[in-house]
Amino acid sequence: MPFFRTGWFVAIALLSCVDVMADAPAFPKMLEVTNCENVYAVNDNLISGGLPEGEQAFKALAELGVKTIISVDGATPDVDGAKKFGLRYVHLPIGYDSVPRQRAVELSRAVQELPGKIYVHCHHGKHRSPAATAGIMVCSMGWSGDQATDFMKQAGTSPNYKGLYETVQTMKPADKDELAKADVSFPEKTKLTAYVDMMVHVDEYFEGLTKSRKEQWGIPKDSPDLIPANLALQIMELFRESIRTNQTNRPEADFNAWMKQSETGAADLEKALRTGSKEAAEMAYKQLEQSCKDCHEKYRNILQKK
Ligand code: HEC
Repeated sequence: MPFFRTGWFVAIALLSCVDVMADAPAFPKMLEVTNCENVYAVNDNLISGGLPEGEQAFKALAELGVKTIISVDGATPDVDGAKKFGLRYVHLPIGYDSVPRQRAVELSRAVQELPGKIYVHCHHGKHRSPAATAGIMVCSMGWSGDQATDFMKQAGTSPNYKGLYETVQTMKPADKDELAKADVSFPEKTKLTAYVDMMVHVDEYFEGLTKSRKEQWGIPKDSPDLIPANLALQIMELFRESIRTNQTNRPEADFNAWMKQSETGAADLEKALRTGSKEAAEMAYKQLEQSCKDCHEKYRNILQKK
């Protein structure tokens, strides 16, 4: 009889566990998903998180029951990679300044129409995807503004993104008519401006540099192809080209000064890395990082009057 006795023991242990769990709210719930950062389910059907990185991530999402992936990020989604695992991509990007109402309605409609579960992601799953997910919940699934704000805080959305918080906190629920009128083209890829595209690439190279910096400017162990000086060069080229072609056509002096500061910072960083001067590399990295932050604070992270 030892087997049965153990069985009872486990059953009783499980029951008491369920008892303890009964009081905790079931959602939002953090999930561990291979190669996806910062994943939270807000109900049985809707999950927010970071970029699925490669096949392992798509496989894990498919195993979780996900059928539709919605990217709210500026980067072009890996539509084919997802398809291999039976996952459909929808690309409905938002900026860091707000969750526009029209987009929240469109996203809500996508959640209603498309097969679930639904995985909404941005790059790191911290700012835009929790905001977009909270926007959906307020717009069409009964959350209050406060619930939305609490979830964004839980997911780690930075208080610097005031526009994301504000638009979700003050979002009004959509009625049937408004939802019925939403755009249902649900594109796999949405074409963004050349400038956003450039920023996505700058960001990719800058992340590589940040990794290298953590390893005293060596080649990061988990990314042996990253040559830090080349990353800095690529960033410099992207800013130089954007300035040369007057890509943004913006008149503001500070905006253009920050563009220039990014170009110079990246050029100085490349030089420092080629000559092996860690001190100079540190200074140039900080200058570059500061120009990203300063410009974003004014021209990206707060509601832009368009
Ligand atoms: C001169 C201003 C300026 C500088 C300098 C700048 N950015 Fe940006 N960045 C912007 C603006 C404006 C946007 C939003 C563009 C839009 O949505 O139309 C943006 C968007 C982004 C995005 C979001 C892309 C997406 O998915 O929508 C990332 C990531 C980014 N920048 C990274 C960086 C990094 C890293 C640096 C520094 C190495 C940097 N940026 C320097 C102005 C700047």
